[in-house]
Amino acid sequence: MSLRHHEIAEANHRILNPLVESQLRLLGQVARVGPGTRILDFASGKGEMLCRWAEWFGSGGVGVDLSAVFTASARARADELGVADRVSFVLGDAAAYESEAGAYDMVSCLGATWIGDGIVGTIDLMRPAVRPGGLILVGEPFWLEEPPPGAADALGFGEGDYLSLGGTFDRLDTAGVELVEMVLANQDSWDRYEAAHWVTIADWLAANPGDPDHAAMCDFLDRERGAYLRYGRRYLGWGVFVTRPR
Ligand SMILES: C[S@@+](CC[C@H](N)C(=O)[O-])C[C@H]1O[C@@H](n2cnc3c(N)ncnc32)[C@H](O)[C@@H]1O
Repeated sequence: MSLRHHEIAEANHRILNPLVESQLRLLGQVARVGPGTRILDFASGKGEMLCRWAEWFGSGGVGVDLSAVFTASARARADELGVADRVSFVLGDAAAYESEAGAYDMVSCLGATWIGDGIVGTIDLMRPAVRPGGLILVGEPFWLEEPPPGAADALGFGEGDYLSLGGTFDRLDTAGVELVEMVLANQDSWDRYEAAHWVTIADWLAANPGDPDHAAMCDFLDRERGAYLRYGRRYLGWGVFVTRPR
């Protein structure tokens, strides 16, 4: 799926992951975000986490995202919430982003660990920017129970891309970080993320019958909705793992 397809499907989302606002707030609390906390957010999407944390907790930081559409939304959100003096958004590839070493209290990547070819490689990308004693936050899917044959493929994953919660814990260990907290999505919050795609895409399809991406968006809706109802809702979890580099 191209970036444009996600931009269409998530036109009405603010949070581009399966957490709802109360969980985003809880995540900031458990990660001890406070006045002056500096955060570098890889794949920042529409910037909701950085902007809301700045509003709620007085933090600041930089988001990096590949989508011009999402980055424009993030900048508009920062203006809307009156936090643009503390948060900024850079358009670009997070994997190639050069940050000052040790300049941030926290580096995060929620829902985009493909940027480092998986959770271990993504943590390697994030680590240089974190100050000693700082935190790395990674948002990642995991299997709630052993998925049946065909589940990973239907959900668009390779076999072995994601593991159980215990396996994910082992991968964090391999990456050289210690898990110190976490906030997990639940079925209701997953529904808000997934089901909100369906109405957005259905409305877009009705409004854009001649668009060159019309057929692809029909496929996207059919596949995503079916895979979520058949497999994702039961077998797939998602959470943000709060870790400290060893
Ligand atoms: C599932 S969304 C998560 C967005 C945001 N972290 C959130 O949770 O709201 C994935 C994001 O990754 C961005 N993205 C994909 N590849 C990227 C890359 N190489 N560098 C930066 N951003 C990337 C997309 O544009 C999209 O905003």
